[in-house]
Amino acid sequence: MYGILWRNLAQKTQHQLRIKAYSHLQKLEISFFESGNTGRILTILNDDINQLERFLDHGANQILQLIITVLLVGGVMALIAPGVAFLAFLPIPIILWGSIYFQRLLAPKYREVRERAGDLAARLNNNLGGMMTIKSFATEGWEINRLIRESDAYRKSNNRAIKLSAAFIPLIRFAILFAFLAILLLGGLQTWEGKMEIGAYSFLVFITQRLLWPLTTLGHTLDEYQRSMASTNRVLDLIDTPITISSGNNSIDIKQVKGDIKFENVNFSYSGRTSLIKDFNLHIPAGSNIGIVGSTGSGKSTLIKLLLRLYKLNSGNILLDGKRIEDLKLKDLRRCISLVSQEVYLFHGNIYENIAYGCEDSSFEEIKNAADLAEASSFIENLPEGYETLVGERGQKLSGGQRQRIALARAILKNAPILILDEATAAVDNETEAAIQRSLLKIASNRTTIVIAHRLSTIRSTDNIIVLNNGYIAEQGNHNTLIKKSGLYNDLWKVQAGIKNTYSGM
Ligand SMILES: Nc1ncnc2c1ncn2[C@@H]1O[C@H](COP(=O)(O)OP(=O)(O)OP(=O)(O)O)[C@@H](O)[C@H]1O
Ligand SMILES: [Mg+2]
Repeated sequence: MYGILWRNLAQKTQHQLRIKAYSHLQKLEISFFESGNTGRILTILNDDINQLERFLDHGANQILQLIITVLLVGGVMALIAPGVAFLAFLPIPIILWGSIYFQRLLAPKYREVRERAGDLAARLNNNLGGMMTIKSFATEGWEINRLIRESDAYRKSNNRAIKLSAAFIPLIRFAILFAFLAILLLGGLQTWEGKMEIGAYSFLVFITQRLLWPLTTLGHTLDEYQRSMASTNRVLDLIDTPITISSGNNSIDIKQVKGDIKFENVNFSYSGRTSLIKDFNLHIPAGSNIGIVGSTGSGKSTLIKLLLRLYKLNSGNILLDGKRIEDLKLKDLRRCISLVSQEVYLFHGNIYENIAYGCEDSSFEEIKNAADLAEASSFIENLPEGYETLVGERGQKLSGGQRQRIALARAILKNAPILILDEATAAVDNETEAAIQRSLLKIASNRTTIVIAHRLSTIRSTDNIIVLNNGYIAEQGNHNTLIKKSGLYNDLWKVQAGIKNTYSGM
């Protein structure tokens, strides 16, 4: 019973800690995940928490038992043979001193072991994700060598820790053996001289073993404790990572949101980069649709990320229906926006689940309708298992254009007051795109729509078009007015129509 209870405690702790760490992780801003530390995070959530579980499983219990043994047996010995009992306690300060001393030396070693484990996981994670590139560039050999380096670094860091902990365990045993011998000799001498009963002496010899023998396992337990402390610190560091983008307090009723968006003197730069969005002002009236064009890297997707509060502004404000988005509850703000982002992400599961993502209680009718509007239903129905077809990890089993249309259907199903399409139809052919545009016209009529596109035909019919250049709005107006000016838009139009082959904006 006690075994079950104790081990269940370890299970409960690891489970709760993992959930706590993960739920904190989800609150951290996107830039935290961009520093290439997915592998590190994975090892923290898996290995490090398991390490703690292993220690709690028996190590912690052993320490508890040891303390009780030392107190009880030590007390009995002090009663029977106060003259020699102190000898049994002599190794304890040595053990304590030794473990504190070794702890100081071991802690950084084990920290390094965990870090190397994180690097190794990061490499594996990257390689598994890039298997297609590895194969197409025939770089298998090169990748094996990189993996050997990471794996070797892990092995070596472990070796350094093992060397140290291997020195520590015999030290403890030595101290114990010394105390045991001293008790035998001194007790024997006292018995010889008649100062102690033979019976008491025999009992002393027996009980000293009971006291000191369990202590020999202490070295191993303390070593395990060290390992698990290195892991626990990493978990706690993760839980302590400050949340820089916190939710506001004001809730909004999504049904009441009109979708009026204002950027007011917005300045933004990614950390460590030069200023990207400079004194940016833009008003997108509720229910209108706007097209954003501009050269690659000009900051179009960034504007959307700022609207979603994925990054912190350097200065300025973004307002939704006249309210600062920082003051709104993050969940509410993000629920107001249906986004088809430039990099579509599908979850492992079937097409049905992927379209219904975030709207799990939708009926099949609603899902089918969203797929129809996204021009996806015909290809879905042609798949061997229709809506039940598994899309593979990250949707790998579908074509680029198919993935985009599923993401579009997902956004349509979300039915939010603001619809944002960031290159959402870039991977589909012109004919399909035209069909999608006809359906979007229907659903865009009563909501604010932002369309980002390189292909100008995509945004041609929007109420307003802005041309982004170097973080500023270079031009603004509808297609017909912009085409009459001889500016960037006009240039771009001519290049796409094949009239010209250079574009002056960059
Ligand atoms: N997470 C990031 N960290 C640092 N810099 C970034 C990050 N994301 C984008 N950038 C930089 O910010 C600039 C604008 O990127 P953004 O994705 O907004 O461009 P874009 O206009 O959407 O381009 P495209 O048309 O190619 O999609 C680029 O120069 C890019 O290198
Ligand atoms: Mg972009």
